[in-house]
Amino acid sequence: MSDNIGRTSTGGQSGVAVAEDLARGPMVRVEDLHRSYGTGAAAVHALRGVSFEVPRGELVALKGRSGSGKTTLLNLVGGLDSPDGGRITVGGTDLAELGENGLLELRRDRIGFIFQSFGLIPILTAAENVGVPMRLRKADPREREDRVALLLSMVGLADHAAQRPGELSGGQQQRVAIARALANRPALLIADEPTGQLDAETGLAVMELLRAVVRSEGVTALVATHDAQLLGLADRVLELSDGHLVEYE
Ligand SMILES: Nc1ncnc2c1ncn2[C@@H]1O[C@H](COP(=O)(O)OP(=O)(O)O)[C@@H](O)[C@H]1O
Ligand SMILES: [Mg+2]
Repeated sequence: MSDNIGRTSTGGQSGVAVAEDLARGPMVRVEDLHRSYGTGAAAVHALRGVSFEVPRGELVALKGRSGSGKTTLLNLVGGLDSPDGGRITVGGTDLAELGENGLLELRRDRIGFIFQSFGLIPILTAAENVGVPMRLRKADPREREDRVALLLSMVGLADHAAQRPGELSGGQQQRVAIARALANRPALLIADEPTGQLDAETGLAVMELLRAVVRSEGVTALVATHDAQLLGLADRVLELSDGHLVEYE
């Protein structure tokens, strides 16, 4: 597990250094990760020494029953939380070396998040929701409008651009969320039970869309799901059980 990935980022906490590192090695490397909540007798050991890699361009599914540590693991890989022990690199960049601003840039520019509850802004239209990450990056408005139109068309919602989330079905809302996650051309998609609120048929369609965008956009995806029929679309499946990882595919 030792190589030179990330060496060139020494002292480089900027988005530029992160982007350069994204060209090499596995997209995600997790080594001996530990995360507990609380202390003493009340402590919950959510992750007890988890190690794995997500190769560039793959869709990796993370399964495990409720409470097995999936969300904890995704939050750590996405830089939303810090581990008690162990190491996480995304695109060769050690997350522990990034300061607040570095982590913010990583989350904004290099990672796309998709949540079970969609997380769309109710008062914004589908198109405006998709454009939010590009506004945060202060992208050129013309570039933003073009990209938003392309993404809405890619997820099959070109005719729904002006509708608000409340006027869309659950499956359509999750398609908007997928388009939004892709807005800044992230290297890594992180999805936490993206089909958890959808019926089986709609859920499968959303997973097939994710499968397709991983190929067409060249992104890497780490997707937590405990829906057995969806696991077949993954390049590999990791299973968490009580904070331990069991790789079986
Ligand atoms: N903020 C928290 N405070 C205390 N315990 C937590 C917190 N978040 C998660 N846990 C506990 O950590 C374990 C793993 O939870 P989680 O990562 O949410 O699992 P999953 O996503 O697989 O359902 C569970 O026992 C859960 O109750
Ligand atoms: Mg969870």
